[in-house]
Amino acid sequence: MKFSRSYNYFPAILFAFFLIQSCSKPSYLHSSLSPEKRTKLLLQEMTLEEKIGQMCMYVGEAELNKNNEDEKLNYEMGLGERAELIKSGKTGLFIKVPTFKEVNILQKLAEQSRLKIPLLITTDAIHGHGMYMGNTTNYPTPIGLAASFDPQIAEKIAHFTALEMRVTGYHWTYSPTVDIVRDVRWGRTGETFGEDTYLSTVLGNAMLKGYQGDGLDKPDQVIATAKHFIAGGIAENGLNGAPADISERTLREVFFPPFKTLIDNGVYSVMAAHNEINGVPSHAQKAYLTDLLKKTWGFKGIVISDWMDIERLASVHKVAKNEKEAAFLAVMAGIDVHMQGPGFFDHIKELVNEGRIPMSRIDEAVRAIVYIKFKMGLFEHRYVDEATVNTTLQKAEHLALALEAAQKSMVLLKNKNQLLPLKTHIRSLFITGPNADNQALLGDWSRTQPDEHVTTVLEGIKQSVSNQTQLVYEAVNDYKNYDSALLKSVQKKASHADVSILVLGENSLRFDSHRTSGENLDRSTLELAGDQLNLAKAVKASGKPLIVVLINGGPIGSEWLAENADAILEAWEPGMLGGKAIADVLFGAYNPGGKMPVSVPRSAGHLYSYYNHKPSSFHRGRFYGSTSSPLWPFGFGLSYTRFDYQFVQHPQTAKLTDDVSFSVKVTNSGEKDGDETVLVYLTDEISSVTSPVKKLVAFKRIHIRAGESQTIDFSLQNEQFQLLDSNLKPVVEPGEFTISLGDSDKKFSLFLE
Ligand code: BGC
Repeated sequence: MKFSRSYNYFPAILFAFFLIQSCSKPSYLHSSLSPEKRTKLLLQEMTLEEKIGQMCMYVGEAELNKNNEDEKLNYEMGLGERAELIKSGKTGLFIKVPTFKEVNILQKLAEQSRLKIPLLITTDAIHGHGMYMGNTTNYPTPIGLAASFDPQIAEKIAHFTALEMRVTGYHWTYSPTVDIVRDVRWGRTGETFGEDTYLSTVLGNAMLKGYQGDGLDKPDQVIATAKHFIAGGIAENGLNGAPADISERTLREVFFPPFKTLIDNGVYSVMAAHNEINGVPSHAQKAYLTDLLKKTWGFKGIVISDWMDIERLASVHKVAKNEKEAAFLAVMAGIDVHMQGPGFFDHIKELVNEGRIPMSRIDEAVRAIVYIKFKMGLFEHRYVDEATVNTTLQKAEHLALALEAAQKSMVLLKNKNQLLPLKTHIRSLFITGPNADNQALLGDWSRTQPDEHVTTVLEGIKQSVSNQTQLVYEAVNDYKNYDSALLKSVQKKASHADVSILVLGENSLRFDSHRTSGENLDRSTLELAGDQLNLAKAVKASGKPLIVVLINGGPIGSEWLAENADAILEAWEPGMLGGKAIADVLFGAYNPGGKMPVSVPRSAGHLYSYYNHKPSSFHRGRFYGSTSSPLWPFGFGLSYTRFDYQFVQHPQTAKLTDDVSFSVKVTNSGEKDGDETVLVYLTDEISSVTSPVKKLVAFKRIHIRAGESQTIDFSLQNEQFQLLDSNLKPVVEPGEFTISLGDSDKKFSLFLE
């Protein structure tokens, strides 16, 4: 075969061309290199300004200039303040970017910067991608997930949320919240998994798995955030951001464990808390952020500030005389990213130039930030592909999961004379209450959704009853100012119906003008907010059976309701399909199996009521005219069927270093199929320091058909028997332990020798 000379040289020329091409590309842009290597190479290229820029976060333009069309236009053309910041490499992250269109604009500007470093787009997707301006799936808020006691559901929700985030260009969610709530007046209780350390750890970990998968290098994974570090759930008066005065023992026993476990399992971000702890604001807590988190626990990811909390070191906490000193304290304490806005950049630059912040501290922060951008493949894939957005958001399987999660989160608190489930062909039904036909069921960190995407309680009930049922609805659009005409009308309509359904509770929907709780809206009472109790009394006065459905994030401690309602369904904030799930429970299409993830005090004066209290908590002091027991205890929840427990196998003794295994047979002895969650508690009978009366150490939710039994095997790890001795050292002490099941009388003694 004969080739021309030039043809012969062609491959070599081509090779040389590619060689020149790739040599002209900065080495950190070579995707064949490892993220570690690329990070190292990029850091070598970066100026001080470019490094500090990576630590600076800004709010998206559309959010900032909602009403300023000129500004928006400028920005789309690559002009204006935000655009300049991005192009000059002075920012590395964004929050509150409402749509994928803006994500693409931001990323395009970032590609025009000298080093072309992509931006991390962050959001609070805590129960679905709720802050996105579009059709995303809204799931029950975390308190409802906790009530479901179902880590698989939590993991799946986090995974589907990650999918909806990535397809719209978001990389980082500020979830899960593993704050332990001791003061349930905290308006953010619905964002948490409740009062128990073990439950929060298991569910937080499940969500971490769903968000980050096995390592943040796939396009369906997002960075998770363990927040808030630490102790926001026990702040003074239950007020968001107020001081937490708390012993080192309680921090270690109750508040730290979920964070430690999530860090052990690779969570890539931790957010500092608004509040101070024992006199030191969380954002200036070097002992916790650096010494404990980074050095002792080996956390290698990003510590992020909470919203404007660095500035608050000066303006609120008064531990810094100005914002520059505040920035100094925060960065030296271990904060890697500033949320959000101008000022921080200039302060840090000055502080480094003055030699007060060492370059090594900046490098440490920037390394963690750019590493993850490489690992997530953002240098290669930074843009949203518009075609995939609509086919991924609110997919059928996401909606099916939203319904299943809502069903599983329902807790039946009271069911006098087996009033529930109702017959679908009931003759007449009266429905009212402020949460009967609104979007309070979406919870906080969610925008209002188009009506057609949300099934309200009223709609769910309408879909469930037969067309023979006469359904009367009285709209009540607020939580207060119910006049006597309304109360009279309600009583009259209730008296004409066979049964009334009253939908009450709280409203934490982010931008709703009727909000009663949520972030920065805490509760001075645990009674029903506003005038709702009067509404309940008016319906009760009809003399007809009263069913109450509660939609709320934080528990409602209403003794009147507990005594006077015939049935109470605690629905939490069940999400966009919550109305259907509630109707399914009311009419028996779904047998409720959720349990309380938090104890409900009888009133705010009964705080604290958490179940894992110390032996002396209630031994002498009594309340005048009231009992100290909680209104609804942790772990409580009724079913339309009955379950019996039996230990089938358990040891009586074990070694001090042993894990302990046993099996429990659960029988559905009623007439309906249903779910049961077996809760396993441990009591250390005699210990060198005081131990809680009991603590949750394992749980399992199972579905059992009527008349059938299932056996569950449990295994407690040796460290679950530990306590912190008088020197705060973990030890397992010999002696008697009791292992008990739920609120049953089934228990056994185990001697550790
Ligand atoms: C909240 C955080 C949240 C952040 C960003 C703060 O006010 O405390 O939980 O992640 O805002 O939206």
